[in-house]
Amino acid sequence: MRIGIVGATGAVGQELLRVLDDRKFPVTELRLFASAKSAGKHSTFRGDQVTIETIGPHSFNGLDIAFFSAGSETSKALRSQVVDAGCIMIDNSSAFRMDSDVPLVIPEINAADLQGHHGVIAVPNCSTIILLMAVAPLRKFGTIKRIVVSTYQAVSGAGAKAMRELDVQSRAYLAGEEIRPEILPHQIAFNLFSHNAAVNEHGYNGEEWKMIHETKKILHDDAIAVTATCIRVPVFRAHSEAINVEFEGERPSVDQIRNALAEYPGVQVVDDAAKNYFPMPKDATGKNDVLVGHVRHDASNMHAIDLFASGDQLLKGAALDAVQIAESLIEQGLVKVH
Ligand SMILES: NC(=O)c1ccc[n+]([C@@H]2O[C@H](COP(=O)([O-])OP(=O)(O)OC[C@H]3O[C@@H](n4cnc5c(N)ncnc54)[C@H](OP(=O)(O)O)[C@@H]3O)[C@@H](O)[C@H]2O)c1
Repeated sequence: MRIGIVGATGAVGQELLRVLDDRKFPVTELRLFASAKSAGKHSTFRGDQVTIETIGPHSFNGLDIAFFSAGSETSKALRSQVVDAGCIMIDNSSAFRMDSDVPLVIPEINAADLQGHHGVIAVPNCSTIILLMAVAPLRKFGTIKRIVVSTYQAVSGAGAKAMRELDVQSRAYLAGEEIRPEILPHQIAFNLFSHNAAVNEHGYNGEEWKMIHETKKILHDDAIAVTATCIRVPVFRAHSEAINVEFEGERPSVDQIRNALAEYPGVQVVDDAAKNYFPMPKDATGKNDVLVGHVRHDASNMHAIDLFASGDQLLKGAALDAVQIAESLIEQGLVKVH
């Protein structure tokens, strides 16, 4: 496949290169794009140096798939150029996720939605992906009526510069120096705050709103009730989530839940109650699987259960999901392999 990556120098873009290599994705040609400040720099892929380019009017001609991870504005500005060139756009930004003609896909859950795509496929929000990887295995136990989720989101979710900011602020804090937030809106070292996406007229920040609406679209379930609280925490990498799931009818046993999670592709159960050892971002970092555990019956609601999950949002929450979408397009014969 002839592949392009837009945003190749960023946190997600760099992971895309690693994931394509790790999964032995069939790449015959690779073009890497970023902003003008990176033009001429290099990235290495499978031992070859690839020069970073800026995007020109014919950049997508001859490419089969372009992975986009350069923000919504770049995706919006280039959509028609990509599609007109006959290239499929797999987009990590939020630009098109809720568009009715754009599939929003977690391959383990709704790969069939790729059928009939119109040249653009959206990768869901990273927090939504981690939530639904933990919740989807439970749907076999009956209708899920309501999900209540609280997130603990790593700074890498805000990009490479936010990761550097946590490092710089942590050193400054420990040295007793003044902390000046530049990328994130508030001090992140030794602090936490509401996710940095703006608060809407309903009082939800943008991340919370995405989790609510993307869940309905991916699960094809407008009736499912979802509420979310999204918090940025001083963790470098991997988001964590406390999840409460309420069933319409009788809830499954804790063992049934553990078994269903363990059988599900892309999920690893981490649930050692005796040691109080449950999913942690340090364990999820660098892993393709979403870790799920702390499984228990909700003591306040006989229809509900509680879970805790950690997932590397640069991998399953972004780069890995995007590459799995590309693999699924190949498997379903929705893109030609040259
Ligand atoms: N970080 C995550 O966990 C995560 C998860 C899911 C989705 N996403 C989404 O993925 C996208 C990228 O996130 P990130 O965390 O990787 O951000 P990042 O680390 O800040 O990287 C941004 C990338 O976009 C490039 N870029 C910026 N403006 C551009 C332009 N006009 N034309 C071409 N390239 C341009 C940058 O190039 P330079 O290096 O040259 O500036 C860089 O390669 C965002 O839409 C984000 O919402 C991120």
